[in-house]
Amino acid sequence: MGKTVSIIGIGALGKTLARALELQGYKIYSLFNRTVSKAEDLGSELNAGIVGSIPESAGDLGELTFITVADDAIGAVTGQLAGQLWDLSSCTIAHCSGNESSEILEPLSGAGAEIAAFHPLQTFNPTSAPGIFGDIYISLEGQAGAVDQLELVVSRLGAHPLHVTPEAKSYLHAAAVMASNYLITLVHLSGEIAGLGGVDPWEARKALHALVRTTAENASAEKLSSVLSGPIARGDLKTVKKHVQLLEQNEHLASLYKRLGLETVALARQKEGITDEEVVQITKLLKD
Ligand SMILES: NC(=O)c1ccc[n+]([C@@H]2O[C@H](COP(=O)([O-])OP(=O)(O)OC[C@H]3O[C@@H](n4cnc5c(N)ncnc54)[C@H](OP(=O)(O)O)[C@@H]3O)[C@@H](O)[C@H]2O)c1
Repeated sequence: MGKTVSIIGIGALGKTLARALELQGYKIYSLFNRTVSKAEDLGSELNAGIVGSIPESAGDLGELTFITVADDAIGAVTGQLAGQLWDLSSCTIAHCSGNESSEILEPLSGAGAEIAAFHPLQTFNPTSAPGIFGDIYISLEGQAGAVDQLELVVSRLGAHPLHVTPEAKSYLHAAAVMASNYLITLVHLSGEIAGLGGVDPWEARKALHALVRTTAENASAEKLSSVLSGPIARGDLKTVKKHVQLLEQNEHLASLYKRLGLETVALARQKEGITDEEVVQITKLLKD
């Protein structure tokens, strides 16, 4: 049997985490959400003993509390809890933001709680399956006692712990935004590029999806240049030139294509397939 768990914030992550922890044998002790109906619904599903909008006594909190409200509400929720002057010495409290360090929970440490930041490197929505935690990495940072307890949670979820400093955590979050959110932006813009030629952007994105999926799989390679394909990796100046000409009609897409192309040249140079002369020619084309 796992520890008793409280979750404050029944949004995409809070909901999925509650379901995943319950499946792993944790008792969902209490659930809280600003819009209380969401806590009530999940509470009935998971047999939580206490549901509400905010804890009303220290006894409303289980041994492990996850604050999963929006990033800009973590400070306010922390302040609300700390302002009650409860004795929280039997509580471990973590937030799940990638952007904030555990320091934002300092007022709760003053009340006796062990504090930490627990950030899953995964993307969630309200219908995510609990199994979504399997094999992912979860960054941990904070007080030693809290981090030790959360490491057990990570292991029970079938995930991997990644111990980070507060500073490293911020860089990791910027990296996560680039790898996940911007990938969505890139796919969106790929649809726009296809649209310039008259293909419906949504049809194009559907057609590109298998390519995106295989590429994402390939991105787990240690040496990324080894899985890089396409005209730049082959030193195919003629094709790159044609793409640049096609995109001239849209300055915005052309400049992005060229900028990313230059980064791709740097990666392609790490493998055989492109000659020094082709690097010079393609770089010139992309810099114009
Ligand atoms: N979603 C992801 O992919 C993901 C991944 C890793 C980490 N995280 C982290 O998980 C946390 C929650 O993100 P999410 O994506 O689950 O958010 P979300 O789905 O947008 O849900 C936000 C939650 O915060 C509550 N909330 C918003 N403003 C509030 C306020 N002023 N006071 C009290 N509660 C407030 C909302 O309550 P209402 O229901 O009343 O609006 C809701 O429960 C964030 O720290 C985020 O950085 C998210």
